[in-house]
Amino acid sequence: MAKNWTPRSWRDKPIEQVPDFPDLSVLEDTEKKLASFPPLVFAGEARKLMRSLGEVAEGRAFLLQGGDCAESFAEHGADNIRDFFRAFLQMAVVLTFGASSPVVKVGRIAGQFAKPRSSNTETKNGVTLPAYRGDIINGIEFDEASRIPNPERQLEAYRQSAATLNLLRAFAQGDYANLENVHQWMLGFISGSPQGERYGKLADRISETMNFMRAIGITAETHPALRVTDFFTSHEALLLGYEEALTRVDSTSGDWYATSGHMIWIGDRTRQEGNAHVEFCRGIKNPIGLKCGPSMDTDGLLRLIDALNPENKAGRLTLITRFGHEKVQAHLPRLIRAVQKEGRKVVWSCDPMHGNTITVNDYKTRPFERILAEVQHFFDVHQAEGTHAGGIHIEMTGKDVTECTGGSRPVLAEDLSDRYHTHCDPRLNANQALELAFLVAELLKKDLAAQAPRQAANF
Ligand code: PEP
Ligand code: CO
Repeated sequence: MAKNWTPRSWRDKPIEQVPDFPDLSVLEDTEKKLASFPPLVFAGEARKLMRSLGEVAEGRAFLLQGGDCAESFAEHGADNIRDFFRAFLQMAVVLTFGASSPVVKVGRIAGQFAKPRSSNTETKNGVTLPAYRGDIINGIEFDEASRIPNPERQLEAYRQSAATLNLLRAFAQGDYANLENVHQWMLGFISGSPQGERYGKLADRISETMNFMRAIGITAETHPALRVTDFFTSHEALLLGYEEALTRVDSTSGDWYATSGHMIWIGDRTRQEGNAHVEFCRGIKNPIGLKCGPSMDTDGLLRLIDALNPENKAGRLTLITRFGHEKVQAHLPRLIRAVQKEGRKVVWSCDPMHGNTITVNDYKTRPFERILAEVQHFFDVHQAEGTHAGGIHIEMTGKDVTECTGGSRPVLAEDLSDRYHTHCDPRLNANQALELAFLVAELLKKDLAAQAPRQAANF
């Protein structure tokens, strides 16, 4: 067990991004209630994810992590969950084919409710109110009452997380995730895409493979494994009182696990060494993500790795880099070299969203070309350094929203107001997300081709 650590030890450390709760006794009562509720996930599942991420760290698998920037109470419903899952699984199939290796599927879902903010306040038409911090803390409506942090929202976040997770488990383990279904949905996307010809080639190869499997008797009927999939949940562990209340001892191992989700991550604004968020995460045994923006210095990163993964366990720590398309080439190589030099085992994942946000016509947006450019540079840098471009971390939805510009069925600047529904940052819509998967699959194929001569030279 981590030294001098308890689920509450974060409370003695400096902390950023804390909501100003007006009544601390209500907060305390809520946390007590949460502590008596059943866990949302089980330690054994978190360990399974850790093993899968260990495969990513060793270069034998690829990580797909994605979902809403912020889940919202109002949009909680079966259709949204189904549409997200459908888009996500299609991406996973395309990436599996591109990487010729397993894809570890982790949603930003069933708990992604708390948001770090750059400013504590928001001003509109001369009125200044506390910033919106996610539905688990306050309301997005721009009025005084909504913006007061309300601890009881945590109970609704727990309830919704449980219901979302329940449906996701049913989709993943029932027949919905059947590979044949996913393949058919993907063909639907290709037939409607202006880039159909480009993506069609890869899709045809997937179809041929499926036909071949069918011909030799491998079908969903004969092989139940084709009907199910492993799907895991994740969110930013920002609201530590909520996380602490759901932190439980695993009876099998005697270790502490966050049971609010399978994987949790530390945001770029709360990753200070010795601070509360790092303190909390160092003591739990789940897989942990760490966001790394341009201000992450190399020595600081190594110290954070020491704190979070002292046993150097593959799969424990995922470094989610988010530099922006123009900065990734300047920053990523120095971090990779430091980690390689010290022999640290990490998963390298690319978040091409958070460094590429701009404002157009008063809307926060992200141009698809810049998102793609960051991913391309990420792959190039890893290829040059001889390391594994391990995954992508994206903000996406299964709906046809107009939040990010571009894509082959382009969203234009003037379209942004049409269906701009996000509660925080702009997300890729279902088509943009799947298109990104096809483009990443091409990069993965290129990576494989580059590795083949290297492997041959080893014989
Ligand atoms: C996020 O993932 O929504 C987020 C706020 O990211 P970051 O901490 O990298 O800014
Ligand atoms: Co975001």
